[in-house]
Amino acid sequence: MCGIIAYHGPRNATEIIVKGLKTLEYRGYDSWGVAIKNNDKDFTIKKIVGKITESTDVDGMPKSNIGIGHTRWATHGGVSEKNSHPHLSNSGKIAVVHNGIIENYQEQRDFLIKQGFKFESETDTEIIPNTIEYHMNRGYDFIDAAKRSLNHINGQFAIVVMHSQHNQIVAIRKEAPLVIGVGKKEFFIASDIPAFLDYTKQVIFLEENDLAIIDNEDLSIFNFKENLVVNRKTTSIDWDAEQAKKGDFDHYLMKEISEQADVISKVVSLPAKQIKDIANEIREAQGIFFVACGTSAHSCMNGMYLFSKTAKTHVNFCVASEFEYFTHFLNKKSLVIAISQSGETADTLAAIRVAKERGAKVISIVNVMGSSIMRASHKTILQGAGPEICVLSTKAYTSQIAILSLIAHELAGQQEEGRSKLKELIRYIYYLTSKAMRDHIKELSERLRYTQHIYLIGRGLQHPTALEAALKIKEVSYIHAEAYAGGELKHGTIALIDKGTPCIVFTSDRTEKEIMSNASELKARGAYIIGVGPKNNELFDFYIKVREAEDLNSICQIIPMQILAYQLALLRGCDPDKPRNLAKSVTVK
Ligand code: G6P
Repeated sequence: MCGIIAYHGPRNATEIIVKGLKTLEYRGYDSWGVAIKNNDKDFTIKKIVGKITESTDVDGMPKSNIGIGHTRWATHGGVSEKNSHPHLSNSGKIAVVHNGIIENYQEQRDFLIKQGFKFESETDTEIIPNTIEYHMNRGYDFIDAAKRSLNHINGQFAIVVMHSQHNQIVAIRKEAPLVIGVGKKEFFIASDIPAFLDYTKQVIFLEENDLAIIDNEDLSIFNFKENLVVNRKTTSIDWDAEQAKKGDFDHYLMKEISEQADVISKVVSLPAKQIKDIANEIREAQGIFFVACGTSAHSCMNGMYLFSKTAKTHVNFCVASEFEYFTHFLNKKSLVIAISQSGETADTLAAIRVAKERGAKVISIVNVMGSSIMRASHKTILQGAGPEICVLSTKAYTSQIAILSLIAHELAGQQEEGRSKLKELIRYIYYLTSKAMRDHIKELSERLRYTQHIYLIGRGLQHPTALEAALKIKEVSYIHAEAYAGGELKHGTIALIDKGTPCIVFTSDRTEKEIMSNASELKARGAYIIGVGPKNNELFDFYIKVREAEDLNSICQIIPMQILAYQLALLRGCDPDKPRNLAKSVTVK
């Protein structure tokens, strides 16, 4: 949610920032902007409403060694040029980019107005450069003024500030992600690692309340809560710059769908000891809660079914944003398992915070190393799915399910069997993303392209699959799609089924009898039935064969649905990688 990139070093900052913004765009694409420090000691500012396009080049923008950039997902203030970042102080000397929310911005704005400051935008951000300027006007130098400003700003934020007459960049992290890339005599600051992966894999993850100062070739970090200078270690990242690029694909969505066989093989090679250790924590806990948002929440639902069936272990599931209303049951023996691709989702982080306050243990399954959720957890399993750039989560989802299945098998004393089942699936997953499958689904997407509603049903493990498939279709093609447990549709929603209404029915050997009777209920109302599963049926008007994979049906059956969502997006002229109104990493509650 909003992407930040800044550069300080010998190369052309403008080029690095524009390139970084293109990479970070999945964090928000309402507008973008850059501030480049000119040699003559002012800034060149460029702000554009809309997405930064592949063709945006830096011609006409000055060359410089220092600059900051931002890609915005609007929170305070509409989508407009004046609300775009960077924001300047009244004198024009201080430029700020910001991700997050300033909770007391109205109060602080009123205070600054009384001091004679004027505001041009509707954003909460604009108070930041002006609060710093207010302190500089009172005689503090740039760095001290930035530090003092933090006493006047509440909320969750990542901020990068520069001053037109200083060579320093200040980066501040408080409950919103910010990482520093360390190169040779150069530094990058970004919301996410892929923004600078072409230049360095050496990373410093800022901790909460860290204020980093980049002063030419030096970096110093001050923790403003502890009020002392701190040392943060440099970590080497094993992501490859190529992984964060589209390669031969037209879109990240299809690239990431196609990577799922590799992602599952990564899960297969997770150390047995680590899975055992997590399973032991689960065995010892009294009361286990899965929490997550969006697609990761659907992974949790899968986990609930898998743990129940394979491991005979009861777990509770709650979407992270509702978790605080269920915390009465938490105590020192409780275990919260948080699942998140980005490791930065604000609601999931808030759930973790509440759980820890009540003494519960927190284990997380995350894809991004060094992320806030990873750092807030007592233990973490890193998914190793590689950077997921498309706003829609695909490969991270199947990797989460694979990990949950391994844990469930370990709980049942069958980790190796669980591993073998995953291994056996890898070749089949290649088939599921093959051209033959894509062509078959294309036929379906052509039939569905003008439809307004799609209903999806599944029972057991096919229920979360139906929910996740509906989410994929909605997110990217903007077709209304609604999923239900097979038995539920007749309790109300069946009133909407009419002649030709497309209904997707997920089947499995275990649920066939019951789900087909639900399919008949739909067919009797004239529905156009699309079957997904191991056996064809005369009720199906269109059939996608996906072989029986028992506990791993969720991995196999979602893949054709991801492809369907992709193809619907293309046919309907929607951007598959950047759906309207969405952001990949939701860092506000
Ligand atoms: C956003 C993304 C979704 C994602 C959800 C949770 O809404 O658009 O694709 O599933 O956040 O993200 P997380 O990183 O916590 O898995």
